[in-house]
Amino acid sequence: MQTITSVTEMQTRAENLRGEGRRVALVPTMGALHDGHLSLIRLAAERGDTVVVSIFVNPAQFGPNEDFAHYPRELDADLKKCEAAGVSVVFAPSSEEMYPKGYSTYLAEEAVARPLEGVSRPAHFRGVITVVAKLFNIIRPAVAVFGQKDAQQVAVIKKMARDLHLPVEIVTAPTLRDADGLALSSRNRHLTPAQRQDALSLSQALRRAQAMVAQGEHRTDRLVAEATHILSQHRRVRVIYAALVDRETMEAVREVRAGRTLLVLAAWVDEVRLIDNEIL
Ligand code: PAJ
Repeated sequence: MQTITSVTEMQTRAENLRGEGRRVALVPTMGALHDGHLSLIRLAAERGDTVVVSIFVNPAQFGPNEDFAHYPRELDADLKKCEAAGVSVVFAPSSEEMYPKGYSTYLAEEAVARPLEGVSRPAHFRGVITVVAKLFNIIRPAVAVFGQKDAQQVAVIKKMARDLHLPVEIVTAPTLRDADGLALSSRNRHLTPAQRQDALSLSQALRRAQAMVAQGEHRTDRLVAEATHILSQHRRVRVIYAALVDRETMEAVREVRAGRTLLVLAAWVDEVRLIDNEIL
């Protein structure tokens, strides 16, 4: 496994791989890798023949009051995990390498990025798609893998790739959960056992909504009310949003359409902001 920190070196390596006829599969991450990330790496290995993982805590996607400075950084452990997972190249640039002094170009997607996360985190997706577009330009992967855990993120990236005619296939990997149902996230480490117990209400609300739909409930107000009710039973939980949306446009829907409608949840568990979603 090779670790590359320079943009030009990464460009040359990627060009050589393409020259050898390799189908490069990219997994963009911010590091602090957990089993959810590793499941993306496994899917990337199935979809391509050379896996590149990027590890970059992207300052552009953090708001002024968000946890950029405190975001976990553990490159050595991450490299070991990548090596064990059969990754060919890790691209781990510095902030100065990606955003040199005087950097001033940003991308905006103006529809899918607007609701939900876009309301509470106004510049977030601008930062995400800017860095993802830069990674696509540097590495020019045939495939890139993103997690369904961040449903709006993958929807925004798919829209950007389509709108900009980017020659990359965007693959969505299912959400990996702990045995108790909690979706894996680098933020879970900040939860105390009691907070973690309350955090389980997100996946419980999602499962309850899925069960209601399986029993024939298609009224969105009933489903959202039930999900909100489950979350509100826990005193550490404050709901940021609970909504039924189309999985591609992220627009609110009036009726559940099987396989197309997502229940998306965001909540504070004390000071930890969690998101989760399931397809209904
Ligand atoms: P990060 O939070 O490190 O997540 C990297 C990828 O792992 C994302 O595609 C995310 O959806 C996926 N992921 C996280 N938890 C998961 C889980 N439990 N199951 C499956 N996949 C999971 O998302 C980002 O980084 C950044 O915004 C990035 C796209 C790298 C741009 O900076």
